[in-house]
Amino acid sequence: MIHSAIIAIDGYSSSGKSTFARAIASELGYIYIDSGAMYRAVTLYCLENGILTADRLDHKKLTESLDKIDIEFSVDPETRKQFTLLNGINVEDKIRGIGVSEVVSKVSQVKEVRSKMVRLQRNISKKGGVVMEGRDIGTVVFPDAGMKIFMTAAADIRARRRYDELAQKGVKISYEEVLENIRMRDREDENRIESPLRKAEDALTLDNSNMTPDEQMRWFRRKWKSINRSYENQY
Ligand code: DC
Repeated sequence: MIHSAIIAIDGYSSSGKSTFARAIASELGYIYIDSGAMYRAVTLYCLENGILTADRLDHKKLTESLDKIDIEFSVDPETRKQFTLLNGINVEDKIRGIGVSEVVSKVSQVKEVRSKMVRLQRNISKKGGVVMEGRDIGTVVFPDAGMKIFMTAAADIRARRRYDELAQKGVKISYEEVLENIRMRDREDENRIESPLRKAEDALTLDNSNMTPDEQMRWFRRKWKSINRSYENQY
């Protein structure tokens, strides 16, 4: 069965998935889910509870703790911005910091963590139209999503965007460090054993190296229209 109410967006880190997915969700009135935030929240839990230290991830303690980790999303009624809750506490700022970014791939490689996240992601999506972004949404979480998009952009362009974003927030980091972090995450995302980053066979590729957000939305509307037209012709 095809789930036309689910749009799966996968791709490389800092390829603009969040901005794009949020814009699509807002245009269609769908829920937006940032699955990376869920892996980041688990990582924060590990750091705060001595499960992940500079030199070691305690695999046993992590799997035993999974039942104690509750992740939800909520929306600030004033700003309309979505934020992530870890066991009832807003952790949105903490999970975006470099401390979590540098180690999150260690946690997202763990099979038991992935199974729990996939279960949560499927549950959230029972509520209706969803735009979900991540690394394995079109391949593992929703292989029958109605629309799949695989996003990419040149590594140096992604690094520049990320660097500008961090600089704006006042984070002191060099462009070279950001580029190295992006390259490392690409390698780890593509080469891990559990659900590596792959383009689903039926995904549309969007290389936005030289595209503005408006151009990406025009691209989306064209594709969305043609997908819906072909569904209408089928049924
Ligand atoms: O998209 P992001 O950079 O916030 O993701 C954080 C980490 O989580 C990144 O290392 C990739 C991983 N991730 C994943 O393994 N599967 C997903 N569906 C989403 C993110």
